[in-house]
Amino acid sequence: RIGPELLSEPGRLKEALKPAAAILREGGVVAFPTETVYGLGADARSTAAVEAVFRAKGRPSDNPLIVHISRKDQLDGLVKEVSPAARRLMEAFWPGPLTIVLPVRPGALSHRVTAGLDTVGIRMPDHPVALALIEESGCPVAAPSANRSGRPSPTLAGHVLEDLAGAIGGIVDGGATGVGVESTVVQVAEDGIVTVLRPGGVTLEQLSQAAGAPARLDPALLPESGSEPVQAPRAPGMKYTHYAPQGALRIVTGPSASEVSDWIARHLREAAARGERTGVLAFEEHIGRYQADCVESLGSLSDLSAAAHRLYAALRRMDEEGVGFILSEACPEDGIGAAIMNRLRKAAGQDVVRLGRADR
Ligand code: TXA
Ligand code: MG
Repeated sequence: RIGPELLSEPGRLKEALKPAAAILREGGVVAFPTETVYGLGADARSTAAVEAVFRAKGRPSDNPLIVHISRKDQLDGLVKEVSPAARRLMEAFWPGPLTIVLPVRPGALSHRVTAGLDTVGIRMPDHPVALALIEESGCPVAAPSANRSGRPSPTLAGHVLEDLAGAIGGIVDGGATGVGVESTVVQVAEDGIVTVLRPGGVTLEQLSQAAGAPARLDPALLPESGSEPVQAPRAPGMKYTHYAPQGALRIVTGPSASEVSDWIARHLREAAARGERTGVLAFEEHIGRYQADCVESLGSLSDLSAAAHRLYAALRRMDEEGVGFILSEACPEDGIGAAIMNRLRKAAGQDVVRLGRADR
């Protein structure tokens, strides 16, 4: 473990990271912080190293990994071509929470990274520790989120250790991550239209502005498509129920905040009366209305970046408290709200109660 005390002096960062970089170069796996969530890194050129990542996570092998770079000029060795539209997105958002799916250069990476696809997702993280580690290792670094498959992504080093202690070569502890949800994954078509395969830290609105044309969500992700996606998601990872807490989580939406909170408060009481341990995820504005064994605030509705930052830790708290019955409020789906609701719906296995509709 390389701790925050060793990472605090920018001038000595590379020195401090030498042991972790050496593990990567030698084909081992190391967890490290990014601006989104902690990643579990391995040399993306080494099949043995990448297989160790899949093993540590218990991850299905048909789900490809994102490759992390520290400089834009590393891209040319990894991909066949970069369209002008993709280039514009890199200029606008790298380093930052945007993963761009590009045609992979044959032979540049282990076939296990791409899970047999002819494309690879690449990003340059906006975190000094991540950038210095990648640079020092000299490797393109394949890194999924550093959680056991199916658990909420880690936003603290402690979350990584909860899930993976003993299964990894080491951890670089850079403290809490910033954004708190993963990067946005996009594909750019020949006509320059941007499709979001996974909503994340860069918003649809920001992408549309940088691309000069409206970015669209992969239709498989549209909330109204219900539990049956209208088509198979193009980011293979989106088909799995990720982030699921052990208890049953339901999201509650409705015509007004007071109807939603009345419904949630009543159902929490009823569940408690049945003898269940209860949990609630709610915005600061309404948190005082609820009684439960585990009450987690997602911060104010007026600042959804706080909800993104807190979401995964709040889901982990539910498990720590052994909660079996969990209700969550929803938030508007613009800006970072799209990523928050996407992760919440996945955590809930798409179980959304819509008050004022048929199931009232
Ligand atoms: O913020 C993040 O992106 C974090 C940090 C560590 O960088 N990483 C992360 O990786 O979230 P992971 O493996 O948990 O999620 C990768 C997502 C999955 O949904 C996967 O299906 C998708 O990206 N993906 C990767 N390569 C792809 C490709 N070639 N085409 C389509 N989707 C791809
Ligand atoms: Mg993940």
